[in-house]
Amino acid sequence: MTTDTRILIALRGAGTGFVSGAELSQQLGITRAAIWARIEELRKLGYDIAASPHQGYRLISVPDVLHADDLLSLVQGNKVVGRDIRVFEETASTNDVVEKLARDRVKEGVVVFAESQSKGRGRLGRKWISPPRKGLWFSVLLRPNLRPQAATQLTVVAATALFRAIRDVTGVTPEIKWPNDILIKGRKVAGVLTELSAELDHINHLILGIGVDVNQTATEFPPELRKTATSLKAEAGRHIHRADLAAAILRELDRDYARITSLDFAKVADEWQQQCTTIGQRVAIQIGDRVIQGHAEALDDDGALLVRTQYGRLERVIGGDVTLQK
Ligand code: BTN
Repeated sequence: MTTDTRILIALRGAGTGFVSGAELSQQLGITRAAIWARIEELRKLGYDIAASPHQGYRLISVPDVLHADDLLSLVQGNKVVGRDIRVFEETASTNDVVEKLARDRVKEGVVVFAESQSKGRGRLGRKWISPPRKGLWFSVLLRPNLRPQAATQLTVVAATALFRAIRDVTGVTPEIKWPNDILIKGRKVAGVLTELSAELDHINHLILGIGVDVNQTATEFPPELRKTATSLKAEAGRHIHRADLAAAILRELDRDYARITSLDFAKVADEWQQQCTTIGQRVAIQIGDRVIQGHAEALDDDGALLVRTQYGRLERVIGGDVTLQK
């Protein structure tokens, strides 16, 4: 853990109170002058930290930037997801950065954020627009001990984590559309792109790419997306602090990742089914050139959607483009 992370943990731990320089210096094993120097650096990044000669330091406000040390301080209890966090000002796609890290044998749990992406991508070859500081654009490296067929479990885990974090941080309750869309009042606010490197019988690594439209105003979306996309700010009616939301998502992901690696996917699936607007609906699912129409009945143990077709057959669907039918 870096010194900045530890300073931010101590400041946050004090809430609206002060932490004395002496206490910090003792806790961190560095001089008071060194602490002062780090506080100055944090101030340059936009952290408003009050200093009083008698009482010490107090955190007044934090900027709406993504700062790896700060994010680490917010998820310090996590076991796997977010134990290593990296932030880039701009990348082509955070999924590509994580793919390189995976090939370099970096440990699972690393999370790469970018303030903007020049070539963000969505599912089914779509573009994902990722303007600077308006949203959360990040990817998580996992090495789950699962068969490739069960990879959809991780998309489901990411969707439920997003659901809970968005609800808890913004107060707005979203909906999940299978397998990877998070909607508010029918408009998309977040999505998950799961990319896999696998052999026939096991997953080498899996990348969860997550995009959340956070602080755009309606007119900041390109005209062709305005009817189908929205942001958390537009729905909650207030600016959302991205680092708080990011930390909430990583905490939820870490918790559910631990649940499914202990073979407890059933619990996640139960929760998911309750929050998923797809279950119980008539759906049309485009899979390549084929369209399956029917009634979405449930999720199976691998995270696949079970659809009763109009011919009465139960089809197991592991991906595709879902449209909810009236
Ligand atoms: C979708 O709904 O189609 C999935 C969108 C996923 C977007 C995220 S943003 C971070 C990561 N990097 C990418 O290029 N894509 C994912």
